[in-house]
Amino acid sequence: MKLSSANINVMVKACRKASKILIRDFGEIENLQVSLKGPGDFVTASDIKVEKFLIEELQKARPTYSILSEEAGQINNDESFKWIIDPIDGTSNFLHGIPHFAISIGLEHNKEIICGIIYDPIKDEMFTAEKGNGAYLNNKRMRVSSRSKLKDCIICTGGHKRDSKDRELALEEYKKFSSKVFIPIRKFGSASLDMAYVAAGRCDGYWQRDLSYWDIAAGIILVKESGGFVTDFNGENRYIQNKTILVTNSKINKEMIEVLSS
Ligand code: 2AM
Ligand code: CA
Repeated sequence: MKLSSANINVMVKACRKASKILIRDFGEIENLQVSLKGPGDFVTASDIKVEKFLIEELQKARPTYSILSEEAGQINNDESFKWIIDPIDGTSNFLHGIPHFAISIGLEHNKEIICGIIYDPIKDEMFTAEKGNGAYLNNKRMRVSSRSKLKDCIICTGGHKRDSKDRELALEEYKKFSSKVFIPIRKFGSASLDMAYVAAGRCDGYWQRDLSYWDIAAGIILVKESGGFVTDFNGENRYIQNKTILVTNSKINKEMIEVLSS
């Protein structure tokens, strides 16, 4: 079984095509790592190239939809439908030649995310979800895990950016969760894949401060359609406004909120 609505098909097609550019450029990174200049500018150029390609493909298929994308910003059109694009999520991994990054595309209708895809081109893993129609990993239905005790769980986070004002808070949260779990906290470096992994039942929970909408848009619907919870740190649904996001299976949401508020 797979998701095959018209909008999902448009997203998957654009994403698969764009991933060819991404894979080709990732191959170049290895050579650039050892060069004096390093791959920095090349990665920025790759990011912009992939984004431009995605925008063109999506605009061709849906000329009236608006767009919000990490590099290009806001492209205003019919505001009721909007693509939310992160062309390379996990840029630091990409830059360092670590094969863990993704293209993330969400589709918003009347301010609600109704479709999402996250594609890891190196592992060829396509995560898709559509409101009311479930969530899939490579055409196989996916569900969140059923672990109910925090101590047995794999929890992931992204940490903080160097000069973040939330640095101390993020470190404090890391300490608190570390004292509750047997398996050390994971930091994989791609927010969208962290959310996709909770949706797929690989990880049980994820918390993070200070993300942008394009980091989480597709992940939101993936997790919800897999039976998981997406809330802010208080258990409410103001995660976009508050810039604190907590993503869990259906069993450990309460326990994670307790840790965050302790
Ligand atoms: P990016 O690669 O598109 O920049 C790393 O922790 C992951 O979180 C990446 O997916 C990164 O997205 C994202 N991220 C974005 N803003 C962040 C922030 N302020 N602090 C930590 N991670 C952030
Ligand atoms: Ca991102």
